[in-house]
Amino acid sequence: MITEFESLKAYNTFGVSAQARYFARFQSIEELRELLEHETIRTNKRLILGGGSNMLFTRNFDGVLLKNELKGIQKISEDEHHYFIQSAAGEVWHELVMHCISANYAGIENLALIPGCVGASPMQNIGAYGVEIKDVFHSLEAININDGSLRVFKLDECKFGYRESVFKREEKDKWIIVSVTFRLKKRAVLHTSYGAIEEELDSMHLDNVSIKDVAKAVINIRSSKLPDPKKIGNAGSFFKNPVVPMQVYRAIQEKHNNAPCFPIDESHVKVPAGWLIERAGWKGKNLGNYGVHDKQALVLVNYGGATGSQIYDLSTAIISDIKQKFGIELEREVNIIA
Ligand code: FAD
Ligand code: EPU
Repeated sequence: MITEFESLKAYNTFGVSAQARYFARFQSIEELRELLEHETIRTNKRLILGGGSNMLFTRNFDGVLLKNELKGIQKISEDEHHYFIQSAAGEVWHELVMHCISANYAGIENLALIPGCVGASPMQNIGAYGVEIKDVFHSLEAININDGSLRVFKLDECKFGYRESVFKREEKDKWIIVSVTFRLKKRAVLHTSYGAIEEELDSMHLDNVSIKDVAKAVINIRSSKLPDPKKIGNAGSFFKNPVVPMQVYRAIQEKHNNAPCFPIDESHVKVPAGWLIERAGWKGKNLGNYGVHDKQALVLVNYGGATGSQIYDLSTAIISDIKQKFGIELEREVNIIA
């Protein structure tokens, strides 16, 4: 069923008000294909909606929003060292992580508590605490938005990078991801060296660390600094961490000798955007009903009632201030829907 002028407030974690001119849900590939043949859908611009946790609606969406509700998780095969787990795109990401942990399928425990659906996970190659989905990705199935045909994308065809994939670039707006298959380990290799994980695990006083413990540590760390979208509207990191030439970083270091950075290659480093934004004085900035989170400067927040365009304008002001103060142009991570 296609509805009209649907409110999107409950469908985006920023909690901003916006309407979709047309809105439809699909729970099977057949239903999706039928929708794609419908005149209204063929002749309007189309956008796929998962959990709405990486989108900012800056105004009403003048097209068709297709809400993906495909469900199902199954082990499709295994080899000596791996399980191949296929998840339908509408499964909630964190539930898939928890499912895999209880079945002892290892590899995505560091990605616990990332909001959103499985189908969006390849879009920006979600990552956290030293793991990205490209590390465990096997393949995905996607439906062509124009002719309904199904294509399998293998790892190398997705061209994953830091918060990047072919679906944000060459293949943008052409595919509806319907399932993702992960290659998970039978014997866990724990990734605990990133950030505060080790420290958090120490405080848990464990004899043996399991994938469940790693997930618990990640959940604890995340809950301490990232706002829960159910309480405060947000879409996680609003900007990407910029990768800059070494000389740009050295210039910053001359003024701030404690400036953090992470090596990328011999001539480039990644500078935490949260640090730049904090140093520029934006952390905790409250502009009434929206602002910059007080525990994580990379997260813009809607305290309730802000519009998408106000939040967008705040992001523009931050970008130009960081450019002026540090000579670095921040790039938005959140998908801006205009
Ligand atoms: P949506 O916001 O619904 O969609 C995002 C984009 O993907 C849109 O362009 C949409 O059209 C497209 N899309 C969605 N589903 C499909 C599909 N099936 N086929 C084709 N295109 C599709 N991200 C990280 O990488 N790491 C983090 O640590 C992290 N932490 C976060 C913490 C918080 C509190 C929040 C709110 C967000 C965080 N995010 C993080 C961002 C977000 O959770 C991820 O980007 C997530 O994958 C988005 O999923 P979604 O289903 O909500 O996508
Ligand atoms: N920092 C500050 N002030 C802040 C925030 C961060 O100085 O307010 C500095 C600190 O030096 C800190 C460093 O930034 O050591 C890194 O901070 P953090 O570990 O919180 O990570 P991040 O770089 O801010 C990235 C991802 C997150 C992901 C975490 C953990 C991006 C854009 N963001 O954040 O992903 O959860 O690492 O791996 O890469 C998301 O994409 O939405 C997201 C939340």
